[in-house]
Amino acid sequence: MKKIVVLTGAGISAESGLKTFRDSNGLWRNYRFEEVASPVAWAQNPELVLEFYNIRRKQLLEVEPNAAHYALVDLEAKYDVRIVTQNIDDLHERAGSNNVLHIHGELRKARSTADPSLIYDIEGWELKWGDQCEKGSQLRPHVVWFGEPVELMPRAEALMRQADILMVIGTSLVVYPAAGLIYDVDAAVPKYYVDPNAKNIGGMRNLTPIAGKAAEVLPGLVERLLKEE
Ligand code: APR
Repeated sequence: MKKIVVLTGAGISAESGLKTFRDSNGLWRNYRFEEVASPVAWAQNPELVLEFYNIRRKQLLEVEPNAAHYALVDLEAKYDVRIVTQNIDDLHERAGSNNVLHIHGELRKARSTADPSLIYDIEGWELKWGDQCEKGSQLRPHVVWFGEPVELMPRAEALMRQADILMVIGTSLVVYPAAGLIYDVDAAVPKYYVDPNAKNIGGMRNLTPIAGKAAEVLPGLVERLLKEE
């Protein structure tokens, strides 16, 4: 079975109603990431950080996967599909995708501040100051903040090297190290870049930019890939 590796970003969840970060109405238009998504922010104003993620978690519980998430599930009929996502939402899983690597963490999980190996599902939408792990330490969002290491990068890089086909969907490719993953894919591998702003990426061979919204164009691309020998 051929392996399709898919790198997704906030754009794949846009048509589900979740904001992206850098579009005109994006999250970083309303918040300074230094104040809500960094270790300094957590040290200085943890309640603001908790509120930033509580608002997003509450909204996540009110939205559904869209046709783009479901199209990637359809691909599993013929391909070994491995999703590497920068997204912290669980829409890939809720659509039915089985192999999802959240390299920036997961919105619906919390982590002990004393022992990062202690990770818990968050029931409902709120994580509050005073919510503690089994060792009595405050719980924090299980999210990679700016300035923190992306622990899952080695696993993501290994997947990229195994790709027979690469799909890049709904990401501005401006945040590293995640954006650098596309350079771990063999030059000869066919690559598809789905994004309203999709364009050729300097020096990248075998890349097909497909300008469009993921929920509109991805089903057609998946249909073509399912017909390929
Ligand atoms: N379909 C496909 N792509 C879309 C759609 C859509 N309907 N709407 C917007 N996009 C594209 C935008 O053109 C843009 O290229 O999605 C991309 C969103 O880019 P960003 O907002 O930068 O989101 P992302 O690339 O996921 O950001 C990466 O930055 O802030 C950090 O940790 C955060 O994981 C995030 C990382």
